[in-house]
Amino acid sequence: MARICSSVLLFLLISLFVSHVSSEIRITEIRSDAHPIIPLDQFGFTHTGRLELNVSRIDLSNKNPDIDLAKVGFFLSTLDAWMHVLQQLADSEVTCALESDLVKRVSDFKAAKGKSSFDVSVPVSDAEQYTLVFANCLSDAKVSMTVRSAMYNLEGRDGHRDYLSAGKTILPRVYFLLSLVYFSLAGIWIYVLYKKRLTVFRIHFFMLAVVVLKAFNLIFEAEDKSYIKRTGSAHGWDVLFYIFSFLKGIMLFTLIVLIGTGWSFVKPFLQDKEKKVLMIVIPLQVVANIAQVVVDETSPFGENRVTWKQVLLLVDVICCCAVLFPIVWSIKNLREAARTDGKAAVNLMKLTLFRQYYVVVICYIYFTRVVVYALETITSYKYFWTSVLAGELATLAFYVFTGYKFKPEAHNPYFAIDDEEEEAAAEQLKLEDEFEL
Ligand SMILES: *[C@@H]1O[C@H](CO)[C@@H](O)[C@H](O)[C@H]1NC(C)=O
Repeated sequence: MARICSSVLLFLLISLFVSHVSSEIRITEIRSDAHPIIPLDQFGFTHTGRLELNVSRIDLSNKNPDIDLAKVGFFLSTLDAWMHVLQQLADSEVTCALESDLVKRVSDFKAAKGKSSFDVSVPVSDAEQYTLVFANCLSDAKVSMTVRSAMYNLEGRDGHRDYLSAGKTILPRVYFLLSLVYFSLAGIWIYVLYKKRLTVFRIHFFMLAVVVLKAFNLIFEAEDKSYIKRTGSAHGWDVLFYIFSFLKGIMLFTLIVLIGTGWSFVKPFLQDKEKKVLMIVIPLQVVANIAQVVVDETSPFGENRVTWKQVLLLVDVICCCAVLFPIVWSIKNLREAARTDGKAAVNLMKLTLFRQYYVVVICYIYFTRVVVYALETITSYKYFWTSVLAGELATLAFYVFTGYKFKPEAHNPYFAIDDEEEEAAAEQLKLEDEFEL
């Protein structure tokens, strides 16, 4: 298990260095900054893209009238072009990134004619992912300013603005459709609970709550993204989304722990060490959600973003590993019980079920954490949504598997206890053996 956790950690570490495409109207405050290069934001343009820049409260620490203000300004660059620019700078072909012909120059302080604010709006017709960068090639000047940057693509015949980056613009629809799927699952689950009401346990209602929360979480994510798409900012929908993400995260991890311990099926209470797992996982989920909010809401190049991403990563790995322990304990207990007590058949079936569950939880964690990040890295920004969809489909498969395997049912080996059921389980095992042969 330690090996699984460390490889998840490694992959997530790699993912730290993969920047995500962000896509909103962004306000960046720069105060007495002497950095020669300040990346501001990133966006995937189509052929009808546009960049709007409003720079205000400009203050340059060097008041010498002879300095070359053309060496301070903004440009757009693709990642590829940037690598070449770095080479040009190393070879002294150019002395300032702004002078390179590989970047799209947007505006500089010379064009602003010494005013304390200026606005520019430039069309972008190359379908590429660009990073907006501020360059200050003066060696002895600190810059202060407020930058409002808006990047969008013009869509449709009426040319309305779409503030979501190419490759993300379809996301509201993806989230909405998925939320419909989860609402249908919740409906089916309610029907199952009603039909099998005599064999329903408390944990089945818990499962219902998890599915409903997931459905609401997705619908608010769809609404959040579609507001950003239309207006460039979330207008408070993100708050609802974060609240439901938070509730869903806690409930899902708790559910995995509860199923893993066999709570409410096998025994009505939790043992001390199992309670401890919950006491670790729940507060960590709180931290993970705070980190997620910070990471989402700050610019991709924000100062504290990497720290918060590291926090998120660490907490996530701990949670994922912690939820595996109760399942491992249960498997161990069952293996011993199968050897010692008379109900060998029931215990063996429970064991099989727990083993399957263990494997599926690991696959789920691996896929949603590792494979999805890997996909994000290797797919072009234009197909960003495919990695989101892949992660969501894996999650859906996990929910369906959990619901199917632990559904209320008279002969579920999970909570078979009396002799009659022991016989039924033995019968079923025999049947399964025959099938396998
Ligand atoms: C920003 O600049 C654009 C383009 O020049 C202008 O149309 C827009 O009104 C400005 N926005 C603000 C908030 O100043």
